[in-house]
Amino acid sequence: MKHSSTDFARLWKYSVGFYGVWIAHIGRQMKLFDQLAAHPLSIEELITNTKLYPPAIRAWCSAAQAYRLIIARNGKLHLKKQMRRLLHDRASSEYLGGQFSYLALRSLEYRAFEELFKTGKTRKTNSTLSAVEQATDWDHYAFLAAAQHHEKLDPLLSKGCRLLDVGCGTGSMLAKIHKKYPKSSLVGVDPSDKAVAIARQTANGKPITLIMMRGESMKFADEFDIVFLGESLCTIKEKERVISNCWRALKKDGTIVIVEGLLPDSKFDSTESQLIMGMQLDFALQGQKFMNKKDIVVLLNSRFSKMYFQELGGNVYLVTATKK
Ligand SMILES: C[S@@+](CC[C@H](N)C(=O)[O-])C[C@H]1O[C@@H](n2cnc3c(N)ncnc32)[C@H](O)[C@@H]1O
Repeated sequence: MKHSSTDFARLWKYSVGFYGVWIAHIGRQMKLFDQLAAHPLSIEELITNTKLYPPAIRAWCSAAQAYRLIIARNGKLHLKKQMRRLLHDRASSEYLGGQFSYLALRSLEYRAFEELFKTGKTRKTNSTLSAVEQATDWDHYAFLAAAQHHEKLDPLLSKGCRLLDVGCGTGSMLAKIHKKYPKSSLVGVDPSDKAVAIARQTANGKPITLIMMRGESMKFADEFDIVFLGESLCTIKEKERVISNCWRALKKDGTIVIVEGLLPDSKFDSTESQLIMGMQLDFALQGQKFMNKKDIVVLLNSRFSKMYFQELGGNVYLVTATKK
């Protein structure tokens, strides 16, 4: 009996978690957390400030309180410091807000699972650019925090080097790198016209060059100190060819940097790995597959030395290796 009631509680929590994700995402999307992060407000003040539909705001406020995302004290709603770090502060190492938004936005496409299972039809990632941006934000800040302590990357980027971002998407990583390392000159390539158009807007006026191109077609040679691939390797079809092109694009002793969610060694490891294990379904819907450490070693081994894996958290790894 005890076993079955523990399972019942665990499964019940999954339903609650689903709503928790959506309440957090709505709070972010409708800028309710932004309002409460600025100062505590009564529900009426929140309604006046946002000019949003009062019954929806009231329902959100009571749900967000029940889920302890916000608290009420002396007639005002508060977003406490810890919650600000988790839901609102994009640069915090504990930031989960983007992940919640990714999950909520991606779930809008899940009715396509029926077709995937019956016919194998997949959906392009491009349809959810904003979902991807929300998810990779955390990776970007985690990478920048790790790069700051990296004996090779930080001095190179600080002094000013040439960096190529393969699969740069909407260019938000390049914008962050430019902000932190303004002396470096940056190039991004991506085959998505939509993503490159957004990236060009973001890069406007900054020394960032954006090219609409697949990694498989790159012809750069001995040009870059760093080639960066952020959550793009898993989406790339001809991985060998792209890695070979990255190798050629690098100068002598150049560094390839891969930031990527990798499957754990054991499938039934710990609860920590549950997110990536579940996300496999989401990837399957997009016609993609997560890699593991071994896949990366096999891809890099013949062309790179000094391969190094550092876990940034949540099964996301920073992999660095030097051009042979
Ligand atoms: C998950 S997104 C990551 C975007 C970006 N690197 C970031 O961190 O936000 C994967 C990106 O890889 C790009 N991509 C897919 N196939 C590619 C290929 N063959 N060569 C280069 N980029 C590719 C997609 O268009 C998409 O923008």
